Amino acid sequence: MVLKLRIKRQEKDLDAYYQSFEVPYQEGMTLLSALQKIKEDTDQSLAFRHFCRAGICGTCAVMVNGFPKLACKEQVLPYVLFGEELVVEPLKNFEVIKDLVVDHERAIDRMKRLQLWIKEFQGDPRIPPYISSKIEGSADCILCFACQSYCPQVLEERYAGPLFFAKFYRFYSDPREDRKELRSIQAVKEGNLYHCLSCNKCNNVCPKEVQPATLIRELMHIMHVPA
Ligand code: SF4
Ligand code: SF4
Ligand code: FES
Repeated sequence: MVLKLRIKRQEKDLDAYYQSFEVPYQEGMTLLSALQKIKEDTDQSLAFRHFCRAGICGTCAVMVNGFPKLACKEQVLPYVLFGEELVVEPLKNFEVIKDLVVDHERAIDRMKRLQLWIKEFQGDPRIPPYISSKIEGSADCILCFACQSYCPQVLEERYAGPLFFAKFYRFYSDPREDRKELRSIQAVKEGNLYHCLSCNKCNNVCPKEVQPATLIRELMHIMHVPA
């Protein structure tokens, strides 16, 4: 059995093109192992990111037939059985560095600008269980950027995007965060929270079930800053 892939190739600032590959199927093969097989046996120049191979580090997200997925979690057997070609492209809404590797710098800069962490806190560092269970979903985010790549509003430069609001929710709800007012203003004024279309696309693609769209709706409800 053979896996057929069509991979988008691109060097920064050069025209993109698609290249077809065929990889012999091996039991349990994931898209990531297929990409590694191509790199080992056929084309050493193919560029893609990976690290943990276990759905934890978030580095291997790519577009698979138009849908953002973690390559290390994507089993290829169904595509092989149905003879379906896998079209593999870099994440949308990001600049391409090479092939399937995209530039996360702008998103990371924005996270720094919006200070998506707890700056300092006094007192008891423990989080009560009822709050812990409320924020554990957003705390599961692995920064894979799948939601950012699939959100139609991210193309609008001013809208921060689902990843940021999932993080906002996590810190806004944390009792150790004492800058709630600043957080609200950042989300609404700098992140343009109310530009969300509530289309749920980010919920559908998140591999960790963080459910950013649901958290955004809750943020809209609990933050009382005029848009
Ligand atoms: S629900 Fe909002 S954040 Fe999620 S994909 Fe739609 S517009 Fe983007
Ligand atoms: S919210 Fe989900 S899709 Fe978005 S970056 Fe985090 S883990 Fe990935
Ligand atoms: S390699 Fe870490 S999530 Fe896929």
